Amino acid sequence: MIKVAFYDAKAYDRPSFEYYGGQQEMQFRFLETKLNEDTVDLARGCDAVCVFVNDTVNAEVIDKLYEYGVKIVALRSAGYNNVDIRHAFGKTHVVHVPAYSPYAVAEHAIALLLTSVRRIHKAYNRTREFNFSLNGLTGFDFHGKTVGVVGTGKIGRIFIDICRGFGMKVIAYDLFPAKDSGIEYVSLDELLEKSDIISLHCPLTDETRHMINAAAIEKMKKGVVLVNTSRGGLIDAEALLEGIKARKIGAACLDVYEEEADVFFEDRSGHIMDDELLSRLISMPNVIVTSHQAFLTEEALNNIAETTVNNILSCFRNDGVCDNELCYRCGSIEQCRKERKQKCF
Ligand code: NAI
Repeated sequence: MIKVAFYDAKAYDRPSFEYYGGQQEMQFRFLETKLNEDTVDLARGCDAVCVFVNDTVNAEVIDKLYEYGVKIVALRSAGYNNVDIRHAFGKTHVVHVPAYSPYAVAEHAIALLLTSVRRIHKAYNRTREFNFSLNGLTGFDFHGKTVGVVGTGKIGRIFIDICRGFGMKVIAYDLFPAKDSGIEYVSLDELLEKSDIISLHCPLTDETRHMINAAAIEKMKKGVVLVNTSRGGLIDAEALLEGIKARKIGAACLDVYEEEADVFFEDRSGHIMDDELLSRLISMPNVIVTSHQAFLTEEALNNIAETTVNNILSCFRNDGVCDNELCYRCGSIEQCRKERKQKCF
């Protein structure tokens, strides 16, 4: 029986993981707490830990996991900016779910965008109180507008396809433009200057942290709509608030927030909100916040559970080779042992 400490467990995680784990002699120890230096002890006696986006897998946590004989950190997410991949090398294998439903995230970005631009959230509240006034609900046509997409990977490309369906002109920026994709690539500056809508679909790295800062906002069109379903750290939230107050940003649709770790995924309705920046953003009439919900579809949850269970099994069987292993060498074909069908270490 493979024992897995499952951190930051939510009610919606359990059915799919119990189902796929149960089929493979894998036992999940569901823990409501997040993984960090103080809670890593709960993984004692387990073969693997399963973590999500707001668990902390830093050097200290990795050293403890190594000491306890935990062989795998299984991310049930695509993004892995919360894991010190380099420090993990040689100590614990790190696996992730590269794609579970890029449609879920791209469609959520569109849902936020439509809601914001057509003021559906305001109309919903009004008609529930039999207020049928249309004042203040004027939107704009998507058709003919320019949308700038930052990051044209799995999610970005689906988002682009949907935008084209609306008759929008798409321009994109990516560090590694996709060849023969028919996508019109421009520099980041040109994208910022020309877009009526900007949607972020690139990972959070040292390079992309705060890519949307005061200087970037300065370059944008007045009234631009900003959508972030990627990672909160891509946007300097203070600068965003200033951009909104200056009437430069027309609307912001945020599924992620840099300081979300202690707030998102929990019911905080009875609490005083300590994060004044988030409170201020939420109080703005042109800001919509969802709490890292873009992935949350039935299809995605099933794919996440099935892939995570298979990732863990691959590491223990199959000579330890797992296609979804992450290591700092995997970016380099010359050094990547996985390319040669060997274990990363
Ligand atoms: P992907 O890896 O398929 O695509 C990412 C793209 O970003 C690639 O084309 C890559 O070349 C590009 N990129 C990398 N560095 C860049 C840079 N400095 N500037 C511009 N582009 C850069 O990833 P995928 O599956 O499309 O996911 C995108 C992001 O969406 C993930 O990194 C993750 O943070 C986020 N995400 C959010 C979810 C949510 O529930 N809100 C769920 C799943 C993913």
